[in-house]
Amino acid sequence: MKIGILTSGGDCAGLNAVIRAAGISIFRNIKGAELIGIPEGYGGLIDGESVKLRPRDIEGILAEGGTLLGSSRQPFKQMQIRGEDGQTKLEKMAANYKKLGLDCLIAIGGAGTHKNAALLMREGCKVIGVPKTIDNDIWGTDVTFGFQTAVEVACSCMDRIRTTAESHSRVMLVEIMGNKAGWLALHSGIAAGADAILIPEMPFAEDELCRFIEDKKKDGARSVLIAVAEGAHIRAEAGLKRKQRSFARANLGEKTITNHLAEYIEQNTGYAARTSVLGYVQRGGAPCAYDRLLCTRLGEQAANLVAEGRFGVTVAVKGNSLAVNRLEDVAGKYKYVTRGDRMVRCAEELGIFLG
Ligand code: F6P
Repeated sequence: MKIGILTSGGDCAGLNAVIRAAGISIFRNIKGAELIGIPEGYGGLIDGESVKLRPRDIEGILAEGGTLLGSSRQPFKQMQIRGEDGQTKLEKMAANYKKLGLDCLIAIGGAGTHKNAALLMREGCKVIGVPKTIDNDIWGTDVTFGFQTAVEVACSCMDRIRTTAESHSRVMLVEIMGNKAGWLALHSGIAAGADAILIPEMPFAEDELCRFIEDKKKDGARSVLIAVAEGAHIRAEAGLKRKQRSFARANLGEKTITNHLAEYIEQNTGYAARTSVLGYVQRGGAPCAYDRLLCTRLGEQAANLVAEGRFGVTVAVKGNSLAVNRLEDVAGKYKYVTRGDRMVRCAEELGIFLG
């Protein structure tokens, strides 16, 4: 049996840990199985590239950040557009899947990866998804791997920023990844004791935020720590698409919501405000122990599904157990933060400003 494996989309901690666990389980339990790595995510499949993985290739990578296979973003929207050679990317992937003689493909990735996986299934390829992303926004699973590591990183950065905020009596705005979903800002913000958490799902008013800061200061707070998801926006922008919002801000010479807010806060409250953009430190580096365990369970579960011949599915976490969702059901659906979420209610109880 020839089993393909790829990692697609933005990277996160734990990709290698999944490759390792799936590989070990495949080599141990599926007689004569070959593991075929597809480099650069779906990009490698489009170009027909592959590399045979031996057991020793996947040794010692449990704690390694990044992905030994490389990754790329292949937008779903472009999958069925005919190129100059008359073929679509999807057609090329399906043709190369057959050319490589694959019996199935394990696609490790986020929401876009799952949408492309569902397309490939319709083309006759057998695919199993494994949900990754620091954004934790994949529908049908309580948690994605990479998320918890990113929470740890963002939280420890905020802990450090808080000490400087206290020394200098400042308002500190920390920009956290999450364009559409605010899970990372919400969880790391609560863990770091942030005073305000701004996320895309809960648009806010700038003047209310300023009043909140002034009240905190009047109550004796030296510093105010604000966790800002990169996709957070003010109520007045709520009807706009993400690109329209960034465009409008760029025209004002303000690249991000975080920069805009720092300026607005300084002008309207008189308090010194500073920004820190955490960026890719949230995606890189070694997975935390929780993610190593999760990746190992998910990788092993994907291998079990291969052995059982169950395709067109993606592995998921429900409560303390692993579950399986149909790719068709997951494709194109996102999991967003809602007002009723238990962490949102907890933040509200604690008096954290949410917008
Ligand atoms: O999808 C994960 C994510 O980390 C988002 O939170 C972020 O906006 C995006 O990737 C950035 O990705 P890149 O710059 O690698 O395209």
